[in-house]
Amino acid sequence: MSPTIQATSRFQGFPISPTIGPKSQLAVETKNWTQALGLQEVRVNMLLKLLAVPALSMKAKPVFKLLSASAALFTIALLMVLFRTPRVSARSDFDRDQDEVKARIGLSIAPVPLNFDHRDRRLVGLGSYIVNAHADCNGCHSQGPATEYIGPGNPYLLSPPNGPYTGMQEVNPATYLGGGRDFGPFGSKGELPHLYSRNLTPDKIGRPAGGRTFEEFLTILRTGKDYDQVHPNCSGAPDGNCLLPPFNGDVLQVMPWPVHQHMTDEDIRAIYEYLSAIPCIDTDIPGAPVLRNDCK
Ligand code: HEC
Repeated sequence: MSPTIQATSRFQGFPISPTIGPKSQLAVETKNWTQALGLQEVRVNMLLKLLAVPALSMKAKPVFKLLSASAALFTIALLMVLFRTPRVSARSDFDRDQDEVKARIGLSIAPVPLNFDHRDRRLVGLGSYIVNAHADCNGCHSQGPATEYIGPGNPYLLSPPNGPYTGMQEVNPATYLGGGRDFGPFGSKGELPHLYSRNLTPDKIGRPAGGRTFEEFLTILRTGKDYDQVHPNCSGAPDGNCLLPPFNGDVLQVMPWPVHQHMTDEDIRAIYEYLSAIPCIDTDIPGAPVLRNDCK
């Protein structure tokens, strides 16, 4: 079984815990639902009594008993069908509300101007929420802590008179998701002097990570596949661009794909949509042509 299938099937239909949720919305919905079920029980009881009385009183005619019993069963089935609908919609209403809250937060915290042309605003917002409030993609996919924020907007620094921090975070748009943070030297013998995070910004036609299709992007996040083959396993002596065992040169190192692989398809789609809406950056680091991007 491929990791893709495994990851998807493990989480399909996974119920969202009804106890989680900052809003009172769920409590209200659940109460209605409970009330509805309570009402259903009362109605069923009443109906059973109504139908049982004539059935019992007509002791001599089994045909009437049979008719009453089938009518009762039919009514119960009908009520079950009728009352199943609010139960399902209570959960999806909750999901929708949560997604909307997240999308709104996502749109308000995106640190760069977004291009909404031909894009689903809600998905872009949700993607921004995952990228900027959850997964910290920019923590690794910028050029490192020294330039991740603009000086006065660096929340790790002191405020005046001992430091420049103004109290307002400001992410550096010049390096935002442009890649180039160096995680090297890397390997069992440090055989890779540099291991750069990649450029996730879209190319000129708006495909993230310099031109990835959604299928490729999904495969990367689910399996860690390195389409660029930046550091295959060495076939001879290490040359600075290949990895020695036990590391698998075919998969991305450091990148948390073994964690990201558990996300839903929709979440990964949202990240993709967001990454297609951010500005393109051409990251020019000598010896790392993989970071270049065609922005014009
Ligand atoms: C802990 C650091 C870290 C975090 C967090 C991180 N990445 Fe990565 N990512 C990397 C590194 C390093 C590479 C390159 C690895 C290599 O060359 O082996 C990479 C590579 C990638 C690639 C491959 C690019 C390509 O063109 O093939 C994609 C796509 C990617 N990351 C997306 C993401 C997304 C989306 C997030 C946030 C949801 C994220 N990464 C968070 C470190 C990170």
